[in-house]
Amino acid sequence: MALTKLNITTAEDGCVHLLQVTDTHLFADEQTGLLGVNTNASFQAVLNDIKNDNIRFDYILATGDLSQDHSKASYQRFAENIAQLQRPCVWLPGNHDMQANMQTLEQHGVLGAKQLISEHWQVLMLDTQVEGSPHGMMSQQQIDELKQALSEYPDKHVLIAMHHQAIPVGSKWLDQHNLKNASQFFEVIADFPNVRGVVFGHVHQNYEFQFDGVAFIATPSTCIQFLPLSANFALDHQQPGWRYLQLTPEGRIATRLRRLSERSFLPDPKSKGY
Ligand SMILES: [Fe+2]
Repeated sequence: MALTKLNITTAEDGCVHLLQVTDTHLFADEQTGLLGVNTNASFQAVLNDIKNDNIRFDYILATGDLSQDHSKASYQRFAENIAQLQRPCVWLPGNHDMQANMQTLEQHGVLGAKQLISEHWQVLMLDTQVEGSPHGMMSQQQIDELKQALSEYPDKHVLIAMHHQAIPVGSKWLDQHNLKNASQFFEVIADFPNVRGVVFGHVHQNYEFQFDGVAFIATPSTCIQFLPLSANFALDHQQPGWRYLQLTPEGRIATRLRRLSERSFLPDPKSKGY
């Protein structure tokens, strides 16, 4: 098996311009909230913020936990809302998703391609989901497909997207739900120095760290935020956000994080878990 391919355009400046949105946690019922935040409203507010930003982006990476209730209606809502941005969007699954229903995203225009090929870069959309479990694991098939994709284009820079964190972010309760076989992942990419970055979701916070020459980048959720460096479950008053990624021809990843203005969405302070 090989990853589904999509040729993507390189802009006149030689760069690939991407947007990351993650962890929308939508419900079939648009009034339902998650820990006191209406996830449909916060997603819509993020989309409005992106539209008002006037930044150039040609593709959107949706990095999992798109639904909270697994319903087909929630995925349809994601697809209909993201279509407001008028750019192709690709998806990968998070721990809260149900792939049988998530596949229906494609009927509504969200693309299932997992290997995006441009002039200087390839972007890989990997599956780390263990259905029904919060932690991540890369299947042997996915590891083989990763190796195959990396071997296919040794001269292109590589950005890898996945839902789970392959390195700890420093929050004990979140790091127990990491990518369990990260060592296998690192063994594979060790042979490919052209891997420049790994972007992920799951941790609902901003995170940027250089490890062994690879940029590890997490993006805030479009709804609730988790408090960084917290041993136990704790919500943060930081606001929903999104990320812009510019992939340069030389292999650099320039990135900018945006959040909604202060106190736009505040979680229920009595929430005890997630
Ligand atoms: Fe999430």
